[in-house]
Amino acid sequence: MSSVDTLRQRLAQVLDPELGASIVELGMVGEITIDPSGNARIEIALTTSGCPLRAQIERDVREASLAIDEVTSVELVMGVLDADAKTELMKKARAFAQARAPLTSIPYQTPVLMIASGKGGVGKSSITANLAVAIAQRGFRVGVLDADIWGFSLSRLLGIEGELQARGGKMQPIERPFGDGVVKLLSMGLLADEDQALLWRGLIVQKAVAQFIEDANWSDIDYLLIDTPPGTGDIAMTLARLLPQMGQILVTTPSRAAQRVAQRAADFARKSNIRVLGVVENMSGFLCSCGVRHALFGEGGGRELATQLMVPLLSEIELRPAIGEGGDRGEPAVLLEGPEGVFHQLAKRIVTDVAPPPGAIGCSARMLDALERSVRV
Ligand SMILES: Nc1ncnc2c1ncn2[C@@H]1O[C@H](COP(=O)(O)OP(=O)(O)OP(=O)(O)O)[C@@H](O)[C@H]1O
Ligand SMILES: [Mg+2]
Repeated sequence: MSSVDTLRQRLAQVLDPELGASIVELGMVGEITIDPSGNARIEIALTTSGCPLRAQIERDVREASLAIDEVTSVELVMGVLDADAKTELMKKARAFAQARAPLTSIPYQTPVLMIASGKGGVGKSSITANLAVAIAQRGFRVGVLDADIWGFSLSRLLGIEGELQARGGKMQPIERPFGDGVVKLLSMGLLADEDQALLWRGLIVQKAVAQFIEDANWSDIDYLLIDTPPGTGDIAMTLARLLPQMGQILVTTPSRAAQRVAQRAADFARKSNIRVLGVVENMSGFLCSCGVRHALFGEGGGRELATQLMVPLLSEIELRPAIGEGGDRGEPAVLLEGPEGVFHQLAKRIVTDVAPPPGAIGCSARMLDALERSVRV
C-alpha cells in the first residue's frame, strides 16, 4: 500500500467531533500528497470555515498523520465544502446517526473528558473535583464519574454524600448545586451497603465502570468528567468504546520522570484512538509566604509534554495547601478562588475552546439541525 493510502486510511479514523462520523467517509478529505522529504499536504474541507471545532479537527488530523512513519511534517490546506458536497455529507451523517444505536443515555454531542495520568498521586482527583465545580458555577450540569473503583475519592472531595438509588432500573447520580449549576456524582463511595460494594468490586473493574455508564441516568448533563485510577489502559478502552466522543486531559507534574510516564499514557491513548485534548501541569512550584517561588518538583515537564503531543498546555496549577485542605473538608478550593484563579481559568478554556457545550458549537451539528427543520416544514 502506498504511503498516501496508508495516510488516508489513518485519517479515516479521525471523526468529525459533532457528527461522530469519519472525516474521510464524510468527504471532507481532498487531495493528499507526500513529498520525498516526508511533508504531507492534506486538503481538508469543512462544513463552514469559522467554527470553533476547526482547531480540534486540525489537531486530530496532524496527530493522526504524524503517527505514520513516512510523515515528518504536515501542511493543511483548509477549505469549505461546496453546496453539493455539503448535501452529500448531511445525507451520510444522517444515515450514520440512524445506524448508530445509542449505547448510553449520554448524547453524542455531550463533551466527555477523561482526566488521566500514567502516574499515581499527581492530582487527577483534585483536578476533577475542582474543575467540575468551576464548570458547574458557569451554569452547567456536570456529571462526574469516579472510575477509580478501588481508590474512589470524589464523594469526599466534592462533599457529596448519600446512598445511590435506582429509579426505572437506572442508578441516579447524587447531586450538589454549585452556583447556577449542579454536579452529579456516581462513585463507589456512594454505595452505602458494604456487601453491595464488595459484590461490585468483585466484578471485573471494567464491568463496574461500564455499569456506571450504561445503567445510570446521565440523561440531562452538559458535561461528563471521568476521574480514573493511574495507568488505566483497560478502563480507558472500555470508556472509549462506550463514549466515542471522549477526550483525555493528561495530568503531569513538572518533573521529567512524571512527564515520561504521561507520554506513555498519551501513546496508549493515541493507539486506542482516544484524543488527547490538552495537558494540565499540577504542583507547578510553591509560592512561599516570603514571595519566592520554589520549583519543588522540577520545571517545564507540562509544557514539554504538550509540545511533544502538539496539544495545548491548558493550565499550570501551583502547589497550594488549600487544595488538599479543601478536599479534606469536601469544599473544593475553587470555591474560595476569584474568577482569575487557576481552576476558573481552566474551566473557561474548556467551555469556550477545548470542548464547547452542545448548542454553543456552531458548524456541522447546527447545520444538520437547520437541514432537518427545512426538510420537516
Ligand atoms: N496543586 C496541589 N497543591 C497541593 N496539594 C495537592 C495539589 N494537587 C493535589 N494535591 C494533593 O496531592 C495528593 C494527591 O492528589 P490526588 O488524590 O488528587 O491525586 P490522584 O492523581 O488522583 O491520585 P491517585 O492516582 O492515587 O488517584 C492529595 O493529598 C491532594 O490533596
Ligand atoms: Mg485519584
